[in-house]
Amino acid sequence: MAQQISPSILAADFAHLADEAAAVADTADWLHVDVMDNHFVPNLTLGLPIVAALHKSAALPLDCHLMIEDPDRWAPGYAEAGAGSVTIHAEAARSPVRTLREIRAQGARAGLALNPATPVEGYTDLIGEVDMLLLMTVEPGFGGQKFLDMVLPKIRRTRALIDGSGVSVRLQVDGGVSAETIERCAEAGADVFVAGSSVYGAENPAAAVTALRAQAEA
Ligand code: DX5
Ligand code: ZN
Repeated sequence: MAQQISPSILAADFAHLADEAAAVADTADWLHVDVMDNHFVPNLTLGLPIVAALHKSAALPLDCHLMIEDPDRWAPGYAEAGAGSVTIHAEAARSPVRTLREIRAQGARAGLALNPATPVEGYTDLIGEVDMLLLMTVEPGFGGQKFLDMVLPKIRRTRALIDGSGVSVRLQVDGGVSAETIERCAEAGADVFVAGSSVYGAENPAAAVTALRAQAEA
């Protein structure tokens, strides 16, 4: 499957979200939207009304990453608001099977995210319930953190798990993905790359996406 780039608007100018989304519309595959509630992570960002508004104005499908408590309650609403994919955290979900099915029932792709310290082995039975596994390569909560090399073996194990399952599941990495780290992630088996500061911190975000894609495909 072709590599995909999902720029994170967490690193964009929140006062000009529509323009920031448009800036990468021609070169990116997804627009990554980090929803944080100041409970699951120690930071607060945006919620449903902004996702619904962005869905109306942005050309790219929204890749919503819910870093919130009680995703079972909230996740289907993000799908209903127009998200192309909705990813919940394994550490926060109480009924992941039901919630992942509800996301799919709303017509969105269902994702399951794992923090750096959460082993993938506890979730192998869910492989048929997801369209994407997201491996955090930083502790969630903030952009601009340093990529955690310790996650690379888990990326490899997850790739082997996906390939052995026969199911079509994307493997996303999120956190510290940059020109310096993307090749290691791709080599380990990731195929969707979230990039915040390395895209929106660049002089030309669209060109930064193209450069990251070329490195991921190298
Ligand atoms: C962190 C978020 C990431 C963040 C990545 O909790 O989930 O999506 O925006 O930002 P960078 O690419 O700057 O590490
Ligand atoms: Zn994210």
